[in-house]
Amino acid sequence: MPYRSVFADVAKNPCAFVLFGATGDLTRRKIVPALFDLSLQKLLPEGFVIVPFARRDKDDATYRSDLQAALREFAPHLPADGPEWEEFARHITYVRSELNDLQGYDHLKKRLAELDKEYHFQGNCIFYLATPPENFDEIITCLGQSGLNKPDRAGAWRRIIVEKPFGYDLESARRLNTDLGKVFDESQIFRIDHYLGKETVQNILVLRFANSIFEPLFNKNYIDRIEITVAETLGVEGRGNYFERSGITRDIVQNHALQVLTLVAMEPPMTLSADAIRDEKVKVLQSIRRFTPQEVARHTVRGQYGAGSIASGENEEAVPGYREEAGVDPRSETETFAAFRFSIDNWRWAGVPFYVQAGKRMPKRLTEVHVYFKPAPEVLFARLSYGQLQPNKLSLRIQPDEGASLQISSKTPGPEMHIQPVEMNFKYGSAFDVPIRDAYERLIVDAIRGDASLFARNDEVEAAWSLITPILEAWRDYSCPIFPNYAAGSWGPEDARDLTCRGYVGYSAP
Ligand SMILES: NC(=O)c1ccc[n+]([C@@H]2O[C@H](COP(=O)([O-])OP(=O)(O)OC[C@H]3O[C@@H](n4cnc5c(N)ncnc54)[C@H](OP(=O)(O)O)[C@@H]3O)[C@@H](O)[C@H]2O)c1
Repeated sequence: MPYRSVFADVAKNPCAFVLFGATGDLTRRKIVPALFDLSLQKLLPEGFVIVPFARRDKDDATYRSDLQAALREFAPHLPADGPEWEEFARHITYVRSELNDLQGYDHLKKRLAELDKEYHFQGNCIFYLATPPENFDEIITCLGQSGLNKPDRAGAWRRIIVEKPFGYDLESARRLNTDLGKVFDESQIFRIDHYLGKETVQNILVLRFANSIFEPLFNKNYIDRIEITVAETLGVEGRGNYFERSGITRDIVQNHALQVLTLVAMEPPMTLSADAIRDEKVKVLQSIRRFTPQEVARHTVRGQYGAGSIASGENEEAVPGYREEAGVDPRSETETFAAFRFSIDNWRWAGVPFYVQAGKRMPKRLTEVHVYFKPAPEVLFARLSYGQLQPNKLSLRIQPDEGASLQISSKTPGPEMHIQPVEMNFKYGSAFDVPIRDAYERLIVDAIRGDASLFARNDEVEAAWSLITPILEAWRDYSCPIFPNYAAGSWGPEDARDLTCRGYVGYSAP
């Protein structure tokens, strides 16, 4: 397919953007700043209108000024007080309704028809579900019953964006897929995982498949192990109720960490089409060995932070343990840290362990992939007892300090033959003199263009849940480790470090 510019694609897709959860944190923190920044970059179509659909009694003016305040708070770099905002705000029209009130949806339908005459979005419509997942079902049902899921004329389209979490386990994810499938065709459904909108995550494919030096080495013959780490310094930030039900495995591993893993491990897709890419990702997820309950005990470690301290600028700030956080059960067994040793049973990766770990209240906020190559034979240098050579390591920094580096061995200057690891480093910030945009911008643009490559397909989320659900069930059924088992500000429980040693046996399964 010939390359078409994103600007041209966007221009061809005028649309109404109907926002559910329009008064929530995500809308204020991410969605509206992303939409406003896109409008500043001329990356929204000419015919565009935002239609918040919410239960609070507001008029356009109050709602617009709420959003303006949110912009000042969450996106201070954007001109919330300039004429650009005034122009953008003219494209926001509030509709009040309960989410389960069919009459509200009928009203929305009429309102959209009126707005189309003013904004000329040609019947195209995106429904963005940014409410808690408990509301997804009623919204999907009402969209179907009111006929809003179907375009009102030939050539028009309707799409739905669904926020995470997509399900709580395999069964609920399947149910949500089935409910969505009754009302929308798969091609209309865009399941968000905002990690896929990050430049550095997309760059994994470019790094692997646009550089002939890496791909021939990306297999069991040359790679010893791969580590994927998602670390946060934050605790639960007032979302204790939500996190109690979720835990780090549902919140981060099932979606973000596994998405990164699939991109690191997948075969080259036939094309860059959404389905070609997603076909390969699904194959990786299906090839990850499922654990028996006994294997869960051997190949996973879970943890929960106790009180400790976190670096805050120059200082250390004392922070409470997880069980002391608001909304958390004082005897909670929810994991705030989890580590896994996965095996991918396919020709490329047989025998190469993939260590995946995610945690809260870690010493640093970072998401990184480290690819450890097998060591070079030491026939030359070991014989002369110059110490053990460090293996080559390719590191992909997804956040912060986005970029990549390659660790190689080098002779230190001087008359002696001393060898030391050094880094070849690429930094996004200095290599390209343009700001890295928020992931939501890219994902919203793609939904407008109808490109689902960076969104999860139904079989993809189910494959991820089918891997994770048995682990969660085994954890639920077996005795929990003694929590807390790591201090806030540390890199997690001791056991997690042991997981990388072959032959590790974790806490005992009955
Ligand atoms: N916040 C984030 O950074 C973030 C990140 C990734 C994903 N998400 C996901 O995004 C979704 C929204 O999260 P959030 O943090 O924005 O939640 P939130 O701050 O609690 O906002 C929830 C929104 O849904 C509305 N809502 C809730 N129950 C409703 C009901 N029964 N009827 C009508 N409206 C209802 C709320 O309206 P009222 O104001 O009227 O209550 C509000 O607009 C969740 O699925 C979450 O997992 C959030």
